[in-house]
Amino acid sequence: MKPKIILDCDPGHDDAVAMMLAGRTTEIIGVTTVSGNAPLALTTENALLMTELLQLDVPVHAGASRPLIVKPSHAEEAHGKTGLDGPKRPAITREVSSNNAVEFIISTIREQDDIWLVPIGPLTNIALAVAQAPDIVDKVAGVSIMGGSTDLGNVTSKGEFNIWADPDAAAIVFDAGFKDLRMAGLNLTHQLGIDDEVISQLDAIGNKTANFIADLFRFYLNAYKQRTKGDVAPLHDPCAVLAITHPDLIQFQKKNVRVETQGIHTRGMTVIDDREYSHESFNCDVGYSIDRDVSLSVIIDAISTYN
Ligand code: BDR
Ligand code: CA
Repeated sequence: MKPKIILDCDPGHDDAVAMMLAGRTTEIIGVTTVSGNAPLALTTENALLMTELLQLDVPVHAGASRPLIVKPSHAEEAHGKTGLDGPKRPAITREVSSNNAVEFIISTIREQDDIWLVPIGPLTNIALAVAQAPDIVDKVAGVSIMGGSTDLGNVTSKGEFNIWADPDAAAIVFDAGFKDLRMAGLNLTHQLGIDDEVISQLDAIGNKTANFIADLFRFYLNAYKQRTKGDVAPLHDPCAVLAITHPDLIQFQKKNVRVETQGIHTRGMTVIDDREYSHESFNCDVGYSIDRDVSLSVIIDAISTYN
């Protein structure tokens, strides 16, 4: 049985790959969009573009256009002006099913059992849903987040983009009391890297989807190289999908995780209590290591099943 998910995203190169992977390994009940890598209008357009390219028959609902409290920030340096720079953009004929992602999240969870939330952008929509309908916390199967880190950040030394971009929303989600909350942070996602060799593998597949993703990767890897001098770019968001579809590929540890919302130097830090004698309760399964080779072959196999 494939897990039923709502993919809450801000495409974003790695969001696009997460959607592709989820399209084959999960049952996507809906895609919701949020301001993040690019402004909401663009992340929504990019989500529509991807559902159309992948021929996924799923509704797209636009969500929050800004964080709860802090000013909106985007990640143009990683994803370009459109949020999905690189490939030639195909014409989009699809339209959003609504502009109320939060309502869609709440009603879907109330109406259907065993829904997983997979947020791979800032957590604004999920926090608003929890605030408006606290009953969904016990009803949902779980939440698998790409966000945070056990060590280094990427926006600041401790702040990872998705948490840093809306720390107040992230704090609400980590404090909500979900029975199954999984965190794929930067410490994990940097183990799932893409490089020129992966791009060559996609070129060899040669279908439309592989070509599109290869072009996405060329832009993303190049931007990453320029920004960090690294040769291997982390494929963050698919890790949150793998955390529920292929949990055996990831080693998790139960931890107490809280989000720093006020810190001058630590805004958006996921503060992990590593004390052995701590009395803080565990609220999160934190991913520490992932099998890169098998994970990449799952992703590449999925790509090869598309047109
Ligand atoms: C996260 O931020 C975004 O740029 C990526 O899509 C990913 O979700 C990594 O910090
Ligand atoms: Ca993302």
